[in-house]
Amino acid sequence: MPTRRRFFRNFAVAPLVAAGAGAKAQPAVPFAPGPPPWPDDSDPQFWDRLREQFYLKPGEAYFNTGTIGATPRPVLERVIEDMRTLQATLTRWDWSPFMPNWISGYSPEVPLRQKLAKLVNADAMEIGLIQNATMGMNFLSHGLDLKSGDEVITTNQEHPGGVCGWQLRAKRDGVVWKQIQMPVPANDPDELVRLYAQAITPRTRVLSFPHIISPTAVVMPVKRLSALAHDHKCLAVVDGAHGVGQVEVDMKDIGCDAYFASPHKWLLAPPGNGMLYIPRERQDQFWTTLDSSEWDNHKDGMYRFMQYGTGNMSLLAGLDAAIDFHYRIGPEKVRARIRSLADRLRNGLQQIPSARISSPVHPELAGAIVVHRIEGVPAQKLQDELWLRGQLRVRSVGDALGVRQSCMIYNSEAEIDATLEIVKALAAKLA
Ligand SMILES: Cc1ncc(COP(=O)(O)O)c(C=O)c1O
Repeated sequence: MPTRRRFFRNFAVAPLVAAGAGAKAQPAVPFAPGPPPWPDDSDPQFWDRLREQFYLKPGEAYFNTGTIGATPRPVLERVIEDMRTLQATLTRWDWSPFMPNWISGYSPEVPLRQKLAKLVNADAMEIGLIQNATMGMNFLSHGLDLKSGDEVITTNQEHPGGVCGWQLRAKRDGVVWKQIQMPVPANDPDELVRLYAQAITPRTRVLSFPHIISPTAVVMPVKRLSALAHDHKCLAVVDGAHGVGQVEVDMKDIGCDAYFASPHKWLLAPPGNGMLYIPRERQDQFWTTLDSSEWDNHKDGMYRFMQYGTGNMSLLAGLDAAIDFHYRIGPEKVRARIRSLADRLRNGLQQIPSARISSPVHPELAGAIVVHRIEGVPAQKLQDELWLRGQLRVRSVGDALGVRQSCMIYNSEAEIDATLEIVKALAAKLA
């Protein structure tokens, strides 16, 4: 089967040009201007130059990757090119076996699953391409046979998309939903494991936990919690909405029984891309709950969970391009960069007497997101001041916690320092 790019070159452009009598030799589907040149690895300005690969406006800082990642130019252009090509070649789509597939939800997408699987150290058959983390959570919570009285344990800091499925099962089927109370800030990995251990009873069936907690940005000890679940014959279900792209995600090392993610956050894929991982040996424990022709195909692993009918195939082309973009920089280089920006922010905040950090500073629990507040300043006020004074876009997560500042590859040391200056000035005004 031809790749979509090769199809575009070999089939789409040439015949369409030839078809128009006396047509000039121009592509029927014009290409958008390409992104700026890729910076050299040895360029001391590498990260500043890399920022040109995004549409972000100069002088504005985007610190809300935790909600949605900024899509790189080559990724968005790939999506647009793909959509445009489809429209320009609809008449040539004759369903013969060598033609590319243009609608998602009907094809096993093995090469793309292989590519994503490699990034998270899994097998392609263990990866389902879905639309977001919420969809992943729903597949898991509704697909599992649970009886009235069976218990599921989560934290008390879940995003709705990572917990409402369990709540529905509680209301509908009598499943018992239990929450552990997370300390704020959390700075002791042993304590987190202990809290889960203390909540387990003989009726517990599932330990469900985020890889990185949404409001407090705790990087949970997922490997230890998965082992704890197995010690008690429970399943370990991980909400990895913020995991892939922010921290190392190695499925074989984590050892969980299911992991779902939103690559449109930290992997910078176009919105509408999700990943669901279930290891081979656990797949038969989960029914699929969204069905089309392959709903009962157990041979191709997670293909059963990709039966969502017609969707925008070009978003998958965008996911493919986002993985390429990530590899072009290098996953380790990305992780080291965003961690160092977050460390700079944490260190700076610790020097400001009335600044408080609600996210962890413990190196095992801290990631690329810092949640911070100023004593006596409402979170919305801090969010607004950071924008008005510095064009720094962070996100309020409520007065008790403050603002959530997600540090990503398009952020800079200068933007972190500008944050610290504004926090210092606001704190001084109140002192
Ligand atoms: C921890 C967590 N889980 C799940 C979700 C839901 O993600 P999505 O809206 O991509 O489905 C989010 C979104 O921010 C999140 O932070």
